[in-house]
Amino acid sequence: MSNKPTFYITTPIYYVNDVPHLGHAFEVIGIDVQARFRRLTGHEVRFLTGTDEHGQKIADTAARNGVHPREWCDRLAGEFRRVWDLLKVSYDDFIRTTEPRHHESVSKLWQKVEANGDIYLGRYEGWYDVKEESFITETEMKEKGLEPGNDRIKRMSEEAYFFRLGKYREAILRHIEENPDFIQPEIRRNEVVKSFLRPDMPDLSISRTSIDWGIPVPGAKGHVIYVWFDALTNYISAAGYGRDEELYGKWWPADVHVIGKDILKFHCVYWPAMLLAAGVELPRQVFGHGFITVLRPGAEGEEKMSKSAGNTVDPMGYVDRIGVEPLRYLLMRELNYGGDGIFNEHSMIQRYNAELPNGLGNTLSRTASLIERNLPDGIVQPIPMEEMTEIEREFVAFWEGTVAEYERGMPRFEFQAVLGRIWGFIDLMNRRMNEVEPWKLAKDPAQADRVRVFLGSVAEGLRGVGLLLHPFMPDASARIHETLGLSLEDIRWKDARNWGAHGEMRVRKGPPLFQKLET
Ligand code: MSP
Repeated sequence: MSNKPTFYITTPIYYVNDVPHLGHAFEVIGIDVQARFRRLTGHEVRFLTGTDEHGQKIADTAARNGVHPREWCDRLAGEFRRVWDLLKVSYDDFIRTTEPRHHESVSKLWQKVEANGDIYLGRYEGWYDVKEESFITETEMKEKGLEPGNDRIKRMSEEAYFFRLGKYREAILRHIEENPDFIQPEIRRNEVVKSFLRPDMPDLSISRTSIDWGIPVPGAKGHVIYVWFDALTNYISAAGYGRDEELYGKWWPADVHVIGKDILKFHCVYWPAMLLAAGVELPRQVFGHGFITVLRPGAEGEEKMSKSAGNTVDPMGYVDRIGVEPLRYLLMRELNYGGDGIFNEHSMIQRYNAELPNGLGNTLSRTASLIERNLPDGIVQPIPMEEMTEIEREFVAFWEGTVAEYERGMPRFEFQAVLGRIWGFIDLMNRRMNEVEPWKLAKDPAQADRVRVFLGSVAEGLRGVGLLLHPFMPDASARIHETLGLSLEDIRWKDARNWGAHGEMRVRKGPPLFQKLET
């Protein structure tokens, strides 16, 4: 048994009504960065993702395409996996809501909530929003600018089971108050408290009789479980709820559910209420990130990138053009993960050239050439503090500040700020290199020590950069280490983050890290 601390992180499960777009890629890459950061810093990680396959929307999509929903789901779930693999999403488990393991856990959860007296039979008379798979009041329809007659709105009148949602309002409010980290970032917590936990919160309809593409309600013929009750349960069914005590004991509660801000109500109201009703511990955190938005000529303001707005971008186009790792880097660097950000191709490409082939790539290749040319066998030794000038001491101080910012910002998904700081460090080394001009000093044998101290320190700085970049660009990080004659394997974060921790490094210049792009 490993004695590492565990970390269980989840993505939402994706509707299989369409293939993944850049908005989904942005979300899942941020989650992957967090998972890799936790592995790097010594956690045993379980990273869960998957697909949401039941419900009206998927049944309708399959029908429109003339295939059975199961066949449709198989196809699209395969597509999500394929794209995730190409984006280097390091998930440990991929759950599909059509799997028997999930079916079993959902039935168990239903029975538990029912045994607690929180489910009753009634009748749902009202509106249903097919796009969001959500029962919607007239007030909410107005707030969303929707009207009867809109394609996504259906009038419903059917027998349904209800969940006593309102009963849990106060307990959820108390939990949010006592656990300030439960909903993050803070603006999301405020939204949940103000907009969703209203005193007049109605009970929630949790079964449907007018569709059959879903998990049957235990012991109630003709009813299938409401798709959100089904979908939310994925987080515990993948952890063995009601089936595998050992797995469940190890992984639940999850450390963080990462979701987009459009599905806060489901994760911060419905889900906690369901868990409380079943006597299950709540997840430690729900992190609601923002959207990739698009500025469309002629449109008013920015719009969320989405299939229905018809403004989606295929992430694979960028993978072909700039490569997977630069795409991962740019999405995390250009946009603020916790808030919204405009997707702008021109600015992405400019940043690509400035920061990857030029900033990072050049610094590495320049340093490696200088070391190979000027230090015996291309070997650098750790530089003791007393040999350093002010310049190298400034590197050490900046490095320590960068590590502190990394350890503070990474757990909070502040990737943009963290990367900004790392690039600040690369810039600093580059600037000092231009000032010191080690290529000139190297011509004077009396300066050999100065050259050794300076280049050894830059090499050490680059080792650090390679280490911190691992969650964002795992392959580039490995190649930086390779250039320095090191392997990322078996590193221990606690040591590796310290300046001078490397011992001897044998530097060998490799092929360029990134290719420059024509703009
Ligand atoms: N199936 C539900 C989630 C169930 S979780 C128990 C769902 N699926 S979805 O496919 O519509 O959306 C999945 C995620 O993608 C959501 O978190 C959503 O916010 C995110 N994104 C969709 N478009 C996005 C952007 N343009 N930008 C960032 N994230 C976006 O909702």
